[in-house]
Amino acid sequence: MVARHARAGASGARIEVLLHEPVGIISPDLYGHFTEHIGGVIYDGIWVGEKSKVPNQGGIRTALVEHMKRLRPSVVRWPGGCFADSYNWRDGVGPRPKRPRRTNFWINDSFLQAAPDGPAKYEPNQFGTNEFMRFCRLIGAQPYLATNVRSNTARDFYEWVEYCNAPALQTTLAQQRAAEGEAAPFGVRFWGVGNESWGCGGNFTPEEYAAEFRRFTAWVPRYPDASGLAFIGSGTNGADLDWTRRFFARLTERDAGLINLLYGWALHYYCGTAGKGGAIDFTVDDWYELLAKAIIMETLITQHWAAMGEVDRRHQVKLIVDEWGAWHRAGTEVARTHLFGQTSTMRDALIAALTLDIFNRHADKVAMANVAQLINNLHSLFLAREGKFVVTPNFHVFEMYTAHHHGQSLRAIFEVPSLGAAATKGNLLPALAGSASLRENNLVLTVVNPHAADSRESEIRLRGAAIQTGAARVLAASDIHAHNTFDQPLAVAPRSLPVEAKGSAFTHVFPPASVTRLELRLE
Ligand code: AHR
Repeated sequence: MVARHARAGASGARIEVLLHEPVGIISPDLYGHFTEHIGGVIYDGIWVGEKSKVPNQGGIRTALVEHMKRLRPSVVRWPGGCFADSYNWRDGVGPRPKRPRRTNFWINDSFLQAAPDGPAKYEPNQFGTNEFMRFCRLIGAQPYLATNVRSNTARDFYEWVEYCNAPALQTTLAQQRAAEGEAAPFGVRFWGVGNESWGCGGNFTPEEYAAEFRRFTAWVPRYPDASGLAFIGSGTNGADLDWTRRFFARLTERDAGLINLLYGWALHYYCGTAGKGGAIDFTVDDWYELLAKAIIMETLITQHWAAMGEVDRRHQVKLIVDEWGAWHRAGTEVARTHLFGQTSTMRDALIAALTLDIFNRHADKVAMANVAQLINNLHSLFLAREGKFVVTPNFHVFEMYTAHHHGQSLRAIFEVPSLGAAATKGNLLPALAGSASLRENNLVLTVVNPHAADSRESEIRLRGAAIQTGAARVLAASDIHAHNTFDQPLAVAPRSLPVEAKGSAFTHVFPPASVTRLELRLE
């Protein structure tokens, strides 16, 4: 590993927060999660079983529940991902010993071929709708279910809605739910209509998918005591504007009012990996390359938003970035069964912070986002293997950023130089990036310093308010490769610092390769 030596701070930066320029409320849904039946996410990660020696609450890993509560999570997506379009929800309800065992969607992945047989290859259906709802309830989050468009019918979809949402005992499916101890409806609001329908979800063209979307959503039961249904269309892969334009055009070609069927339009963007390195073994050039790829998210949001607006002129439909993160090469999994179970470093923490700041800055356009995936997978917040459990640096970023939940996103101008192309091998990165929000009298400013070696001093100025007191929480490490392991769980952890701030301006030094949250109490 390459040790990083902090160098003297560069200055010439100024951040101005405009208190009278609100962008939109930062929904906690922007800090959502994603859990798929893939590798070690569900089995081992979330579900250990009631008889396990691993501390659990009705089969669900207690350590995960306790840590999730600290994040005040608002929404979790399930059961996929690509898995969703092979899933029959009926397999996952009813008495657990009687549930069928099926071949998992991911069995063909070469990584798993070398893994022992088990739930990663053969889906035991021990974790189904009721178990997922229980998980959501334990952590205080709303469920977001992805339905199977590729290999199930519209009827299977609306009967799943009925199973989840029909009033107690009113239908046979509601009685079945009650027989499993869940008389009260789950009230599921968010429904994804397929996943990546341009690929694993059916290899559709946008026109074909628009027809499926219309069919699947033409009639779905809405029950009086439920909070309504929010359908999310399977949107685009990264920069594919053609998919967005053609879907919106075909959806509305006969009836412009069908736009009302769409609550949100999904966008998936993985910034991939960089160079020849892996998840924990990379060069400084790789560091800059990947951070620069991560911030492409902002362009994707604004471009798709504009394309959606060509049809949806009043911008009723919001963006749902329901898969995002870095996707590294295999090699750092904590178990051979944990497909995509990469270890996250400080680099991933900065990617998380840069991305969450982008969502905050576009709180008027993005209604929900779900990092992929919660545990034992890409860009995870946790790693677990049987009795072992550890938080990754990404968890710390999510916890620090809970301070933005429900805040009013404010326009903040970062007058900062770009990091020199020579240092970053041509990858353009701002010297500092971040977002600001206001809730009651508390201003939260989160700032990333992407420089691998240099701290950066910045003037911070509030236009329209004065500061009473300030405090900082900082996630930084002496090595850009730093990460937590089962043996060293505290290698990366944030620390709190006092901040000398009064009046409407102050100066702050951001350490190299860091994420900082400034909390400023206003007069
Ligand atoms: O998150 C892993 C996979 O990436 C998901 O199943 C799929 O939707 C995407 O391609």
